[in-house]
Amino acid sequence: MNPARRRWTSALAAVIAAAMGGFSRFARAQHAHTHAKPLRRLDLSPPAQAEPRALRLPGQSGLLADVDLARPLELTATIGWEPLLPGPTSDVWQYAGTTADGRAVANPTLRVRRNAMLDVTLKNRLGDDTTIHWHGLMVDERNDGSGLHPVRHGESQRYRFSVHNRGGLYWYHAHPHGGTGEQVHHGLAGLLIVEDRDELALREALDLRAGISDFPLLLSDKQFGLRNAIKYELGEDDWIGNKVLANWCADARLDVPRRACRLRLCNASNARVYKLVFRAGRRILPYWLLGTDGGLLERPLRTDQVYLAPAQRVDLLIDFSALRSDEEVLMLGADYDPMENDGGMAAADPMLEHPGAPPMGAEQTLLRLRVAAGESRTLRPPAHLSTLPAADFATAAPRKLKLWINDAGRWLINEWNFHLDHHNPAFEVRRGSLEIWELTNAIRSMPHPFHVHAFQFRVLSRSDSPAQIRRLAVDRDGRTPQDLGLMDTVLIWPGETVRIGLDFSQPFSGRQSYMFHCHNLEHEDQGMMVAFDVVD
Ligand code: C2O
Ligand code: CU
Ligand code: CU
Repeated sequence: MNPARRRWTSALAAVIAAAMGGFSRFARAQHAHTHAKPLRRLDLSPPAQAEPRALRLPGQSGLLADVDLARPLELTATIGWEPLLPGPTSDVWQYAGTTADGRAVANPTLRVRRNAMLDVTLKNRLGDDTTIHWHGLMVDERNDGSGLHPVRHGESQRYRFSVHNRGGLYWYHAHPHGGTGEQVHHGLAGLLIVEDRDELALREALDLRAGISDFPLLLSDKQFGLRNAIKYELGEDDWIGNKVLANWCADARLDVPRRACRLRLCNASNARVYKLVFRAGRRILPYWLLGTDGGLLERPLRTDQVYLAPAQRVDLLIDFSALRSDEEVLMLGADYDPMENDGGMAAADPMLEHPGAPPMGAEQTLLRLRVAAGESRTLRPPAHLSTLPAADFATAAPRKLKLWINDAGRWLINEWNFHLDHHNPAFEVRRGSLEIWELTNAIRSMPHPFHVHAFQFRVLSRSDSPAQIRRLAVDRDGRTPQDLGLMDTVLIWPGETVRIGLDFSQPFSGRQSYMFHCHNLEHEDQGMMVAFDVVD
């Protein structure tokens, strides 16, 4: 598309968005210099509290629809309108497509067998650069969908690779340089389920059925403004929202059978960390952790709380068999100490930029579960779920990475900042090598979800953890239950040092550029991201 036409389309998009109560980045760019604080005051009312509505589950069509990737799929990045809240529809930026059998889908839940081909063509009709990043998958650089390979408006890109990862819940999202936070907050994200033998064996052992006793949950908080428009402002910190959506539903309720049910959660929020707790009346319900970012654990682990940071996934089994029919269980983001100790820009009053948003770490209900009538059924998870790849990292001298904020309020990893370093790789890693990365978060800081592209890793140890994390340790290395699985994103608290072990084996050759970054998307966009190259 020629630049003049593109500008015109953008202007048109801005006019339409403004007319519908939205604020596109183009419209905002024009207002930016006025920094219209008084305007925001008009926006103070939190979104209306609705009667609980049935939770959306992957269906035939629309948002979250179930799509088997046995056949190639074409997805168009575009802006659609969805009924998210009572009242006017909201502008949801989405990957929209039509399946081979004629179903119109948006941000579909993709399913693929391990070792099968994923073949998805992205067409960009968004009015700005975008991508599809396959979060957690072992891919070559070209298929990584990072900002190094932007797809321009009007152009397309075919992502085609065989899926090497273990069975598990992964996800995909937009990843353009400097605009990831905006595009993900506006909606460009979806789930990807990889199935393998262990996964199918687990379903069999627990008689799990999709949509009946096995539920995927895409969690993300959005900031809603006037007329239910989703709001995002470039250049702000920690974009938390005033409404949490579960599977694109606000105030949702899910009926569950009186038996052990599986919930597979993905935190697609820009910045919010949830402490997942299930409460029935005054009782906290324990549950089993079955899996993490990179699939199933070796064995189920009993816990009653998990911190789910942006980009992380957990696979949970919760037993409702001892509850009464009709009893309600709340899935909470329970309260915790957010440890926002940076004293910088993030410490500003969150209510000003995010009217109606609960502060980070404040309790909120994420989902209401209602136990259905009927016979109760007792089920226990199998003792052995899966076998994790063995790797002996002991010999490697650690590569040290420090997460910190400088006096100018800029987040850095060591001395690096993606933008200031012009996206140049900070170091090379030899393909097939084993490395230990020692990640230390400054004390004057906040929790950072640290993510590495294209490689799942092991958490080896956690030290100098704050009390709320130390309490969860299950071994002498200070690891929490979540740390025992394969991870692609690990949350590092202020003052903490976390050692991770990475195996840089991959079935590709030549130079492949990737990145690691904080998955707080505002931090990422501001450059708390570093490129690195994998070489032969
Ligand atoms: Cu899900 Cu580079 O990120
Ligand atoms: Cu990623
Ligand atoms: Cu961060």
